[in-house]
Amino acid sequence: MTLTPGQPESTFRPDLLAGKHALITGGGSGINLGIAQSFAAHGCRVSILGRNLDKAQRAAQGIADAGGQAIGLSADVRDVAALEAALSQSVAHFGGYDIVLAGAAGNFPAPVDGISPNGFKTVVDIDLLGTYNTIKVAAPHLSSPGGNILSISAYGIPVPMQAHVVAAKAGVDALTRTLAVEWGLRGIRVNAIIPGPIDGTEGMSRLAPNEQTRARLRATVPLGRFGLPQDIANAALFLVSDAASYITGVILPVDGGHNMLGAAPQYQMYLKMIEEKQ
Ligand code: COA
Repeated sequence: MTLTPGQPESTFRPDLLAGKHALITGGGSGINLGIAQSFAAHGCRVSILGRNLDKAQRAAQGIADAGGQAIGLSADVRDVAALEAALSQSVAHFGGYDIVLAGAAGNFPAPVDGISPNGFKTVVDIDLLGTYNTIKVAAPHLSSPGGNILSISAYGIPVPMQAHVVAAKAGVDALTRTLAVEWGLRGIRVNAIIPGPIDGTEGMSRLAPNEQTRARLRATVPLGRFGLPQDIANAALFLVSDAASYITGVILPVDGGHNMLGAAPQYQMYLKMIEEKQ
């Protein structure tokens, strides 16, 4: 099976995840779709879950057209009953899970005084509680030993206009580390990835909408380029594979070194965005 058109050949064995089943929330687009495609290209059956059924099914169809095995499911990760119904459908179709990828997230750039209490709560509900709900509902179906949980997190540093996201994702990190300890003896590994600026994603188009902001942002990445969805997928493949069998509780930045510079180099850019919003 080929990877996404235009992506480089995988460095991993094509049967790396043969016989496995992964649940991927938020898998209809962006980084999570890249992970779903890559897992499928390495032999994994994937259940793609999103709020929008059409989008999830289109993503699954794309994988099936490329020779992989996938189904699309619909649920809002804030709705435990809807998650339970979707996951029973997925387990009935492909069996229990070997991998749970909690990728669903909601985000918009807004300064603290430009967002309502309900706006803040909405992002915490999707990003933190949605991650917890996903893991909680999937856990009884997750193989043990041998199961893997992987969440998509964000920088644990102050990022202006992202207080709601940074606060929610700090909770995801705490959940990741705590579950890694609680479930270590069950043989379940629990890790997270922090994506840096990934080209072609919705987040990137909002953060850097024109060439000028793109150039400024690119200058804050030590490796001198934006990431590709495949960069995140490669890290995900490694973390859920046996090559990482002694790794748990890790929050791994995959960002070209961007985190080492913190938000400081972008500070003026953020100030300008806040000014424009007011
Ligand atoms: N700035 C400030 N507040 C915002 C906002 C923005 N850009 N977008 C939404 N909100 C607030 C709303 O005003 C509302 O608060 P209120 O009731 O006090 O007015 C609250 O957030 C909920 O908004 P709503 O649109 O009803 O929520 P939703 O559950 O339908 O969707 C998101 C929430 C985050 C998913 C939605 O903003 C969205 O679709 N974002 C883009 C998609 C996305 O996040 N993709 C992931 C990229 S990482």
